[in-house]
Parts: sequence; C-alpha cells; structure tokens
Amino acid sequence: MQFLESSTLNSVAIDVSSSGDKSFTYIFMIKVASKVNYCYNYNKNGDFMETNENKIKYLDLIKNNIKREGIENLVEWLNKTDFFVSPASTKYHSNVEGGLCLHTLNVYNRFLKILESEYGKNWQDYCSLESATIIALFHDICKVDTYTTEFRNVKENGVWIQKPYYAVNDKLPYGHGEKSVYIVNGFIRLTREEAMCINWHMGEYDMRAKAGVSLTDIYYKYPLALLFHIADVEATYLDERITK
Ligand SMILES: [Fe+2]
Ligand SMILES: [Fe+2]
Repeated sequence: MQFLESSTLNSVAIDVSSSGDKSFTYIFMIKVASKVNYCYNYNKNGDFMETNENKIKYLDLIKNNIKREGIENLVEWLNKTDFFVSPASTKYHSNVEGGLCLHTLNVYNRFLKILESEYGKNWQDYCSLESATIIALFHDICKVDTYTTEFRNVKENGVWIQKPYYAVNDKLPYGHGEKSVYIVNGFIRLTREEAMCINWHMGEYDMRAKAGVSLTDIYYKYPLALLFHIADVEATYLDERITK
C-alpha cells in the first residue's frame, strides 16, 4: 500500500498500487487537519465501501459502551442513512464526505477529556461512560438525510466545468438539538440529563437561544449540558477545518 501525501491542508492522497488482494481497493486519504487523518475505501468502480476507519471506530464505541435496550435498532437505522458519508456542514467545519462521523468522534474525544479535567479520574460518578457515549455519538444525528450534492458551473483555466457542492435539503425540518432528541428517543430511552445535553448542545448558536430562551437557567440546572456544548465547540474549531 502506498500513500501519495501532500503537505497541503485538505489534500487528497491516492493509493495507486495493486496489492494482489481479492478485494482490490483504491484508498483516498483526506488530510482534514494536521492531527486528524482518516481514510475512505473505494472499490475499483469508485463506489464507496462500507468499511472505513471512522465508521468502524464509531460502531465499536456503540458496541463497547452502550447496552441500552433498542440500540441495535438505532444502529440498523443509522446504517441505512447517509450518516457515515454525510458532511458535518455545507460550508463550515468538516464540510467533506464523512465529515459528520469525523466530527462526532472528535466531539466524543473532547467530551471525555473535559469530563476528566472537570471531575477527575472518577468522572463517571457524574456521568457514566454509556451516557457520555450516547450524548456524543448521537448529538448531531439530526443532520442525517439533510445534505445533498448539487453542481455549479465554474470557470477553471478558461474552461467551464461543473463542480459539486453541498446544499441543504432537510427531509425532517424539526430543528437541531431537539430533532436529535426526537430521533434517538424513537429507538432508545434517553435519561433527562442526556436529553438536555443533546437538546442544548448548540449553546448560544441555537436559534432558540437567539430568540430569547435562557441558557443561564439551562446550564445552571444541567452543568453537563454546558460541558458538552464546550466539547462540541472545541472539536469544531480546534480539531476540524473548512474545505474551500
Ligand atoms: Fe450540532
Ligand atoms: Fe456537533
């Protein structure tokens, strides 16, 4: 296997070698940020194969950390959606294929770090690993089936070409955090605290907060929701990048 790496941010490296394996694959490596690399596997026809590193990491976290009734149905549903190939946004953080799963894993890592720094080694006395995993892994599930790929005409080197870009076409315009709570609760029973963390993870960026809902009241009553909001912001701005 051979990677052709470029030092350019968001550059693409392609494995052009043939390994002689039965399942000959091309590997596309997208360098999203200096610390974060992830791979997609494509078969020889260029079709996305359902085995990429982040998807495996995500599903392993569910398998190892979540035992709640109904979780198998949630995973089965997720596998039928675009969750693992969807971007995290159209033009902001991780606006690349697979960006939503990448962002989710970054938030999970940030959340656990914050919990430990706030509560120490015994942080699970305040929030179980199962709860932390549920909150992080499903907080942006509202973005499933929300982004589409459109094309626009762009002139490059004097030639007009069609370039793809992400657009929003939300199949269920229910909101953001509240939509994630609605979807997840359809499969597993969330605790009150988990629901509050997911519901208010956008903090001051939430349209409801902009319209006057008091975050002060929410975060004093549910400090875990504040810590999770910080994890979401840290992952977005410290771990991820915008692809132009
Ligand atoms: Fe979000
Ligand atoms: Fe998020």
